[in-house]
Amino acid sequence: MSLLKEKLSSFPRVEFAHLPTKLEKAQRLSDALGIELWIKRDDCTGVSFGGNKARQLEFYLGEAQAQRADCLLITGAIQSNFVRIAAAFANKLGMEAHLQLEDRVQTDDSLYRQSGSVWIDHLMGATLYPYHEGEDESGADKALHQIADDLKAKGKKPYIIHLGADHPPLGALGYAVAAQELLNDFDQQSIQPDAIFVGSGSGATHSGLILGLRVSQSQISVWGTCVRRNKDIQKARIVKQTHMVADILGIENPVHEEDVITTDISFAPGYGQMGDLTIEALQMAAELEGLILDPVYTAKVLGGLIGEVRSGQIAKGSKVVFIHTGGTPGVFAYQNKIEEFLANKK
Ligand SMILES: Cc1ncc(COP(=O)(O)O)c(C=O)c1O
Repeated sequence: MSLLKEKLSSFPRVEFAHLPTKLEKAQRLSDALGIELWIKRDDCTGVSFGGNKARQLEFYLGEAQAQRADCLLITGAIQSNFVRIAAAFANKLGMEAHLQLEDRVQTDDSLYRQSGSVWIDHLMGATLYPYHEGEDESGADKALHQIADDLKAKGKKPYIIHLGADHPPLGALGYAVAAQELLNDFDQQSIQPDAIFVGSGSGATHSGLILGLRVSQSQISVWGTCVRRNKDIQKARIVKQTHMVADILGIENPVHEEDVITTDISFAPGYGQMGDLTIEALQMAAELEGLILDPVYTAKVLGGLIGEVRSGQIAKGSKVVFIHTGGTPGVFAYQNKIEEFLANKK
C-alpha cells in the first residue's frame, strides 16, 4: 500500500459518493479548442445531484459520526452546492441539517433566491438560517457557533463544517483520494496529460488534488481557476492550505510555492456572476457535448481553459483534463441571467 493510501485509510469516512467517476474524452470540444480534452465526471458522484463536495463530505461526516454528532451545521452561499450535498449526507445518516445561507450575490432574482440548490435544501427538510453578509468568513463561522450553542443548550451534539481558511481543511483529503483515482485513470487509458484544470474556491479541492498528485510523484501541472478571489490572493490561500493538508496527514508537504498555479482569466465580474468566457463555455459544452456546466464554478473553469488556450499559456495540441465538479442545479437558479446573456449575444 502506498504511504498516501495508508494515511488516508486511517481517517473515518462515510463512503456515500459514487466512485470512481469516469474520465471521458470530449471529442467535439477538443476539435473546437485545438487541444485533447478529457473530462473527469465528478458531477456524477451521486448524493443530491453530486459534485466535488461529496468527496470532501465523506471525511467530514466520517469525523462527525466518530464524534457521535446528531446535527450538522454548515454555511455557504444561497446557491451553495456544498450546503446542499451536506444536507443530503446528514439526511442519509439521520442527522439534523442546519444550513446558514449567506447573501454573497447581490440580486433580487427570485429564481436565484428560491430555485436550484436552495429549493433542494427545502425539499430535504433542512433548517435554514439567513446570513446577510456575503464576504465575512470568520463572521459566518462565528454565527454557526451561536447556532451550535443554542442546539447544545437543547441537548444536541452539533458538528460544524467551518468556512474560514484557518480551519484544517479535512475535506481536502477527498481530493487526495481523487488524485490517486486520476492517476489510475491515466494508466488505464494510456494518457499522459499536460495539465489539469479545476475550480479553486475554498481551496480544498485544489490543495488536496495537488498534494495527492505530488505525494504520488506526479508532476502534472494543476491550474486552479479562481471563482472567488483574484489569482494572487488565491495562490497564497492554496499554498497555506497544502501545508495544513500535509499536517492533517502527518506528512511533509511535497508542494512547492512555485508549483501552485492560479488563473483568474475568467473570474470577472466576481463570485457567482458570469463574464463572456463563462457564458461562452457554458454554451459550448451544452451545444457540442450535451454537457451541462454550472454558471458559478465549472463554466468558469472551462472558460478559464478557453482563455488560457487563446492566450497561448496552454499550447495547442496539449492534453488537458477538466474536472467537472458539479453544481448543475445552478443552471435553474441562473436561468434568467443565462437567457439574458444568450439573447444579448444574438
Ligand atoms: C461545483 C463546485 N465546483 C468547485 C467548487 C470549488 O471547490 P473548493 O471550495 O473545494 O475550492 C465548488 C465549491 O463550492 C463547487 O460547488
